[in-house]
Amino acid sequence: MKNLNDFTGLLHHLNRIGIALSSEKDLNRLLDLILREARSFVQADAGSLFLKQGEGLIFIAAQNETLDSGERDKKVQANYLGSFLPLSKESIAGYVAVTGEVLNILDAYHLPPEVSYRFFRTFDEENHYRTFSILAVPLRIPEGEIIGVLQLINALNEKKEPISFHESFEELVCSLASQAAVAIRNAMLLEEIQQAHLDTIFRLSKAAEYRDEDTEVHLRRVTGYTMVISGKLGLSSEEIGLLKYAAPMHDIGKLGVPDSVLLKPGKLTPEEFEQMKRHTLIGAKILEGSDQKLFQVAKEIALSHHEKFNGTGYPYGLKGEEIPFYGRIVALPDVFDALTSKRVYKPAFPVEQAVEMIREESGKHFDPVVVKAFLDSLEEIQQVKNREDQSSVTII
Ligand SMILES: [Fe+2]
Ligand SMILES: [Fe+2]
Repeated sequence: MKNLNDFTGLLHHLNRIGIALSSEKDLNRLLDLILREARSFVQADAGSLFLKQGEGLIFIAAQNETLDSGERDKKVQANYLGSFLPLSKESIAGYVAVTGEVLNILDAYHLPPEVSYRFFRTFDEENHYRTFSILAVPLRIPEGEIIGVLQLINALNEKKEPISFHESFEELVCSLASQAAVAIRNAMLLEEIQQAHLDTIFRLSKAAEYRDEDTEVHLRRVTGYTMVISGKLGLSSEEIGLLKYAAPMHDIGKLGVPDSVLLKPGKLTPEEFEQMKRHTLIGAKILEGSDQKLFQVAKEIALSHHEKFNGTGYPYGLKGEEIPFYGRIVALPDVFDALTSKRVYKPAFPVEQAVEMIREESGKHFDPVVVKAFLDSLEEIQQVKNREDQSSVTII
């Protein structure tokens, strides 16, 4: 139990938590951090977070020291995540979200008869857990809106026995919850902006592909495959994030290729093929000169995605590791998608045949390291293909 008389100490602790929360931009990691910090602040065994969505609350994150450290099946716990709770006074979290009041409950199994909320024991029963004390506070942003609820469960004494939450904690946890609410809202806004950013890039890239027979779904599949392969290659989440945004721009230079070449149904003459090849250089021109890492990566990919590992590609005939790594990565999904898609001049090859063709080209067209990562993740590749193929089915 914390020394509640050490007010300065507590404020310092709260302040440190506030700084930590405001510097975490990834929503999932943030939710985890909020629970961890809030639990350690009041010495609670468990905690859960609910976020408002439409007319309900989504159970978005949970931690439970006893269950997480035990041998019990964690899946049972995880099953509850994502579940939906109606926004009503019948549940504890619902009550807090609707009224904005703090609930400090001594024993969840023995609630006073006059209250409107109940405690649902299903989770406890399935996990062989016993919830005693609960401190539930609203996640309120400075504008006053409640965006969710933080529940802390089972305050523990030094002997790790459940006790009640001290009253003095209520206000301090509310203050922590407001900081958490701001951090959550900011992380969600950031996610929205990133999504809008990606959407803009997709639309611009689609403009480039629009005149071609490739469509938006080609971009989505290439991006999806690129992310799977990058994950297999052990790239950092930051790099994978960059590729997610940069890969769709690989053919943006097609904007500068005349219709007579880009849309020609038959075989291209050598001169026309030279013009076609220029989409790599044009793409690089469009994307160059930015301070943003994203566009620097996108430029590198646009310029190098048609280079071949054995030096027979274009525009520069670079060989092996002379070809930028990201370009060597995107080259494979780009070809794999072309092989498995129908074209005016060819049918779609079955996946197995396309995989064989890629395997054949290891060390020739493609970097063997990238081919290996691809072959090691065929199941996920197929999943991306199924997902994107499905999403492209238009119902008229
Ligand atoms: Fe291309
Ligand atoms: Fe492409």
